Order: sequence, then C-alpha cells, then structure tokens
Amino acid sequence: MTRSTNNMYKQILTVSTKYHIPMMNRNQTFLCLVLLMLWSTGTYAQTRKDQPVYKDASQPIESRIDDLLSRMTLEEKVMQLNQYTLGRNNNANNVEETVKELSAEIGSLIYFDSSAGLRNTAQRKAMNESRLGIPILFAHDVIHGFRTVYPISLAQACSWNPGLVKQACAVAAQESRMSGTDWTFSPMIDVARDGRWGRVAEGYGEDPYTNAVFGVASVQGYQGDDLSSPTRIAACLKHYVGYGASEAGRDYMYTEISGQTLWDTYMLPYEEGIKAGAATVMSCFNDISGTPGTASHYILTEILKERWQHDGFVVSDWGAIQQLRSQGVAADRKEAAQKAFLAGVEMDMMNECYDNHLATLVEEGTVPMSLVDDAVRRVLRLKFRLGLFENPYTPEIPEEERLLLPENVDIARQLAEESMVLLKNENHTLPLKNVSKIAVIGPMTQEKDHLLGSWYGHGRGRDVESIYEGLEKEFAGTSQLLYAQGCAFDGEDRSGFAEALRTAAEADVLLVCLGEKRAWSGENASRSTLALPAIQEELVEELYALGKPIVLILSSGRPLELCRLEPLSNAILEIWQPGIAGGTPLAGILSGRVNPSGKLSITFPYSTGQIPIYYNHRQSARTNQGKYQDIPSTPLYEFAHGLSYTTYEYGTLTASATTLKRGEKLIVEIPMSNTGAMDGAETVHWFIRDPVSSISRPVKELKHFEKQLIRQGESRTFRFEIDPERDFSFVDATGKRFLEAGEYQVIVKDQVVKVQLVD
Ligand code: BGC
Repeated sequence: MTRSTNNMYKQILTVSTKYHIPMMNRNQTFLCLVLLMLWSTGTYAQTRKDQPVYKDASQPIESRIDDLLSRMTLEEKVMQLNQYTLGRNNNANNVEETVKELSAEIGSLIYFDSSAGLRNTAQRKAMNESRLGIPILFAHDVIHGFRTVYPISLAQACSWNPGLVKQACAVAAQESRMSGTDWTFSPMIDVARDGRWGRVAEGYGEDPYTNAVFGVASVQGYQGDDLSSPTRIAACLKHYVGYGASEAGRDYMYTEISGQTLWDTYMLPYEEGIKAGAATVMSCFNDISGTPGTASHYILTEILKERWQHDGFVVSDWGAIQQLRSQGVAADRKEAAQKAFLAGVEMDMMNECYDNHLATLVEEGTVPMSLVDDAVRRVLRLKFRLGLFENPYTPEIPEEERLLLPENVDIARQLAEESMVLLKNENHTLPLKNVSKIAVIGPMTQEKDHLLGSWYGHGRGRDVESIYEGLEKEFAGTSQLLYAQGCAFDGEDRSGFAEALRTAAEADVLLVCLGEKRAWSGENASRSTLALPAIQEELVEELYALGKPIVLILSSGRPLELCRLEPLSNAILEIWQPGIAGGTPLAGILSGRVNPSGKLSITFPYSTGQIPIYYNHRQSARTNQGKYQDIPSTPLYEFAHGLSYTTYEYGTLTASATTLKRGEKLIVEIPMSNTGAMDGAETVHWFIRDPVSSISRPVKELKHFEKQLIRQGESRTFRFEIDPERDFSFVDATGKRFLEAGEYQVIVKDQVVKVQLVD
C-alpha cells in the first residue's frame, strides 16, 4: 500500500471513530454495546429486506441497474445524461455563460475545485434531496497531472517508457480521486502531424502505434484493476476521432479523412484503448469528410458500440452538440439533440440540448425509449463500477496528505528526465565539464508558469523549479552562473540585447533558454508557423557573433522550426514543458548527472512549409523527384531522433527464419553494446515495411519499441516476437484486416532483414 492510500485509510478511520461518547461506567458501557448490537442487527435485517436491489452492493451491477431503471421517470433518466459545471472554471476556452442552479438529479458535474468539500456538499444534495439518491459523477480535465504536474503528453511519448507514464497517471488518479474527482477527460490519443495545431501538445505525437501504447498505459494508470478504489479514476479516450487532422492546423476545423486513413492512422489508438478497458469516450468537434463526429452513427454506434462492444458511454465535447448548428447539420438545439443522441452520444457536456429537448423527443416518438434506457444504463454502470452508490463522498483530507507527495514528485521528475531530447551535440559540447562561467540567457530562464504547459490541472507555478533555480543547485561550487534575460518571448524590444551580450562576453559557454509561453499551445492555440518569434532568433544571432559555444534550451508545446537556429548552436536540448520538476532534470542533463535518453515522438520539419511531414507517409510515385526547389525535402530531425552521451554499437539484425507460414511467429533480434563512458538507456524502434501490397502502404510503420538500461561496457539483446497477423497485416477502408503473402521487411535504424510470408 502506498503512503497516500495508507493515509486515506487512516483518515477514514479517524473520521468514523471521532464521534463524542459520553463517560459511562463499565456495566453501562457493556449494556449499551449489547443494545446497540441488537438494534443494529435488527435495523440491518430490516433494511436488507426493504432495501431496493439497486442499493444492495451484494447484487450484480446489471441487476442493480435494471432495478434502478425500472424506478426512474423519463425526466430523471434524461437528467442522468447531462453534465454541468461546479466551481470556478479557469479554462479560457470553456467559460460557461450561465452557471446552472444545481439540480439534485444531475448526472455529472465538471468539478473545478482541488479539494473534496464542495463535491461533498453537491453530492449530499443528490443523495438526500433527489427521489432515488443517485450519486453525481465528478469529472475534471486531469491531462498531465492534477497538482503534481508532469510533462505534457507529447513529451511523455519521447521517454518511450510507457511503464513510467502508467505510474505518472496513477499519481494523477490518486490526487484526483482523493480531491473529489472520479473521472478524467484523458488520454488524448489523436494522432497529430501538424505542429501548427496547438493540441499537438496533448497527444503522443505522429504515430498511431505510439498513441495506442501510451494511451493504453495511461488508461491502466488511471483506472488500475478496480475503479472503486479510493485512488483510481475513470479514463476517457478523446477526441473520437480524427481531430488531429484539423485542416491547416487550425483548431475546430474541418478534417478531410479518407476511409483508408481513418482506419490505418486514426482508429488504432481508440481500438486499443477500448480493449484496455477505457471507461468512457469523448466524441470530437471536427466533421469527418462532411459528417461531424458528434453526429456520426458509424463512428459512435456501428464501430464503438457494435463492433468493439464498448459498454461505457460517450460524452460530447464541450458545447459540441449545439455546435452541430454551426456545422450546418442541425437547425436548432432540438434537432442537434436528436442527431447526437441517435448517433450514440450518451452525455451532453454543456450544451443545454438533452436537458431541454430529449424528453420531448421521446414523447414525440423521434427518439426511442429503449435508446434512452441504454444510455442511462451506461452512465449508471460507471457509477456502480466506481462504487459511488456505496461511497458517494470523498474523505476530506489535508492537502499535504494527498498532493505533491515526495515519491510522486519523484515520478514526475524521472519522467521529465526521460522525455527531454538532445537534438544536437557537436563535439561533445555537453555535458558541461570544468566550465568556470556559464551565462544563462533568454526569456525562459526564470520562468515557472510556462514550464507547466497547457492544461496544467491544479498545478501552481510556485511548485515549479525554474531553469535558473535548477542550474544554481546543480552547479553550486563548480561553475559560476551569470544571467541576463536578453528579450521577452515576443515583441520588438531589443533593449535587453546589450546586457545579454555583456554577460555572454564574460562566460565560457552560453545557455540560451528560449521557447513558447504555455498559452501558445493547447486548445484553440494554433500558430501559422513553428518558428519562434523573430526577437528570440535575433538574440541568438547576436550572441553567435561572440564566437562562444551556444547551447540552445527549448521549452515548447510543439515541434519547432529550427533551420535558422540550428547552424548557430553547438548543442540543442528540447525540454518540452516538463511540469513541476522544471529545471532540475535539465540541470542534471547539462551537468552529466543524467544521461539523456529521450527520442522524438514527432518529426521536427526543416521549416513550416514542409508540413505535413511525418515518417510513415505512403510511398510516392517517383521516389527521387517531387522535391522542394527552395528548401530541403527531408526534416531537420526525424521521428525517433535523440542523442545520448554514451555510444551504442548496434550488432547485426537477425531473424529466426527467412520464410514463415500464416499462424507462425518470428523472432527478430539485435545485439547492442554500450561502448561509451556512461551508463545509458537506449530505445530500439522496430519498423515493418510491406514493399508490395494490394494497397499502397507507408514506407515503414512502427510496430514495437523497447527501452533498456545498458551499463557502460555491457551488452544487451533487443528482441521482438513478430506475430504476422498483428504486425504484417493492414486494415482496409472499412477496418477489415488483411494479411497478404509476400515479402516483408523488418527495419531497425539502417538495417533491414527480409522475410517471406507464404500461404
Ligand atoms: C476540449 C476537451 C475538454 C473539454 C472539457 C473541450 O473544449 O476539447 O478536450 O476535455 O473541453 O474541458
């Protein structure tokens, strides 16, 4: 049991034993106890007999739901399908216009508080004032941590350590549940290949398999094996589906997705997330080739509920049902309610559509009652699974016993260390050894808030260690730090350049800390270019003229355009938005205490004009032509690129067979030695290529990855057991899986091994 759960039980115990008992002598006490026992057994027997089945925890969940449904009126059912807000909403994208008077029958609330008090007050109302005492389900956007904020998802994937991501999500779950939240709108598993889209920060990058693996890890981390545990929460796969394809990277835009691309690129993470048991799904804002996700019967019902047999429910995105009007498929809220509900959206998040119109639609015969029952059943099922009928309230525990627990902060720090990516390290500029004066320059140096990234939950800037603070601790007694801000994140003000140049002139090496403010990525935060504002680039240009080594430290929520900065820098380290651990992991990497092991989960284009550019594109008709005339056609840093301080020598890639039949498996192996001067963790990415197929397949597709710690001087073997049905097959435009006979290539870095699949 973790310290946190321990504390929780302690608290539950204290709460239940602290009632005042008047002083009595021994005989009186004994008599009282006997009476109390008799009374309580009698009452208990009485309650059991009269107790409705839905209140009896010993009954199977489905029987409890049957019983409860049979007692509910249409109005009560409809209310279970609505979600309003409770508390002060800090999300600028979703400021509610009218705060609803809290109804005791409401199905769910988005809960903005970070302690349980307000929840318990609202819950008491539902339990005591509603006719049937159905508990409310409390939700919150816990995206990369609740208070212990860890790196953004795009960064997490660069760790290639799903086990660690699972642990981080378990921390988020513990902090959330103990603070009054039962359900998170996470993970976001939208494959995203356009860095201009601000929400690229929230997902696991450009690759379907990577999104699937990390999506599953986070579902497991949030939910564990038992949703009724006081430290677990329900997950929500979002935004189903294709939101990452928003045209030109502009949020909420149209997406043009062919059936083939829908299935081979966007559906896999959802299919795997459902298999992993994700409790809920959120439908998307975008319309997929003309049909808004919120109104797509195909996506929400035929695939999710019928083909994949998902028994949880779908919540709309915020306001997305009533937005069917803006998307031109519904004339008014009533029609929007009808379309979304018939398509398969069970819960209305802040639309005023189901609460106002669903009952009428049923009475008019447009929406069948059976569908309402099915929707309510799904919502109730989650409430039962979470144990809310038995434990509707959250014990009110002091912050220090549930938030920022040291072992949890440690997980956030470790994840930040593993997710930072060393992009360039010319002539071993890093780690910094025997440097007497380090100049730390740039607008990110002293920042705290921006290191939290977007969707930072209940994170606070004051919990974060800035880059400068991290460096001060790390280099105390070994190097002297000098500081100048140089310039702001944007604008035209060059007045700080002179001081930056003076400071730099005194130093042996320049750490230039640049990047993006946290509001530059996330929802509704699209940018037309991946380049940093000109003022930041100019600062580096001026510093370059001094001829000192430049180490570029970049904190951003998207891949950046570095074609002008790269030639000016000796080393480049992408730290993303690392969360509360802030500058400490970075400082460890700079000093060499930590060996960087992150690798990119998304391509860094040479420049914005290359977008879309991603590693797993389909094969072109003329492989050597079709290049840009004005810029290179290859990216600056490819998917899976990332350097280490040690060197790994890859041995020969071998396969256990060169021919195999359907149903057989294949083992491919590659030995590896750490030949450098430091322990290190290396990730091997295993790609498959199908050179000739009945449809044009990508040039290569990631099918497996593994990260192993290899000590200095040691060797390890990386192994991948290939199951052709899973790894060589492909889906067609309807999601049907095919496995064709022929040649397949297994690729690790620049080595290829060929295998024949025969019938
Ligand atoms: C976002 C979702 C989020 C929801 C609730 C929407 O605007 O698209 O990702 O979960 O708001 O805050």
